[in-house]
Amino acid sequence: MQVITLQESDLPELIELAHTTAYERPLNEAALRARTFDEISVRRDLLLGAREDGRLVGFLLSVVRENRGIITLFGVHPDYRRRGIATDLIHTFHERCWAQGLTQVAAEGSGPGYFWPGVELCRSAAISLLMKEDYETDRNARVDMRVDLDSADLDTASAEEALAGQGIAIRRATADDLASTKGLALQFFSRGWLLEVEDVQRFSPTPLYVAVHGDEVIAFAVYDVTGYGCFGPTGTRPDMRRRGIGSVLLKRCAQDLRARGDSIMEICWAGPVNFYTNEIGAQIHRAYWGFRKTLT
Ligand SMILES: CC(C)(COP(=O)(O)OP(=O)(O)OC[C@H]1O[C@@H](n2cnc3c(N)ncnc32)[C@H](O)[C@@H]1OP(=O)(O)O)[C@@H](O)C(=O)NCCC(=O)NCCS
Repeated sequence: MQVITLQESDLPELIELAHTTAYERPLNEAALRARTFDEISVRRDLLLGAREDGRLVGFLLSVVRENRGIITLFGVHPDYRRRGIATDLIHTFHERCWAQGLTQVAAEGSGPGYFWPGVELCRSAAISLLMKEDYETDRNARVDMRVDLDSADLDTASAEEALAGQGIAIRRATADDLASTKGLALQFFSRGWLLEVEDVQRFSPTPLYVAVHGDEVIAFAVYDVTGYGCFGPTGTRPDMRRRGIGSVLLKRCAQDLRARGDSIMEICWAGPVNFYTNEIGAQIHRAYWGFRKTLT
């Protein structure tokens, strides 16, 4: 077995291996490329693979943010497990981080462009490996929620009528809305959310709905950018909250997913769990821990 630095030509094999091991959502080459070779916080020599007999049998993907090397996804083919391959990958990752002056490493969600919000709690082998490697966790869980689109009530007609009475319109964003939506995301939320809003340009139709009051975008909701069928991020300007805007945006996104034939929508790295349960009947269905380690 040989640890290698992944190349763009490895992408087709990498997608297959990621699906077999660590990532169940639909993932195409463009989406994987956006999170790896085209992602600004990726250092190419920290995208690792393991080859045996010419076959890609393991991988470890990462980003470097705020001076930390963060593992975003890793896996070893089921036929090649318990042979130390993941250990070799993680040690190579540590060595290369150390050589670049990065002493803090992690395996946790890091936006924009994450795969999972952390290491899913059902992944015992991965968690055992990280604990063996002396990673620490605060055991604070992050969660994804799931909406059954076949049964959810997605009707927004009366809510939209009430909002129209207040001069608020909800619609799919046009190219002209992008700059003001990004401004809203940055001013009231984060730079990560701004980048995720920007990312909608990769998709058609634009997976972004906005609420507009006069000329101003006062709320937004995005889907597909953090993963196929994933809702978020979403945000309403603080002074415009508790009017039902977020709920309509959420349902408009869900309507798109239902119309294209999806039967579930995931709310990824969900914040206000009660909001999603009350408004659209979402249920928690994945939970994650984050892991951190100081290299010495
Ligand atoms: C986690 C995973 C990558 C480990 O790969 P691997 O090459 O088999 O790991 P290693 O052989 O290097 O194992 C190193 C240590 O991890 C722990 N470990 C690995 N598999 C384990 C298992 N099934 N049960 C318990 N501990 C396990 C052990 O401590 C092991 O040391 P040991 O063999 O001396 O007991 C692999 O099981 C996998 O691909 N799982 C699915 C993908 C996944 O969950 N990825 C994380 C999502 S981000």
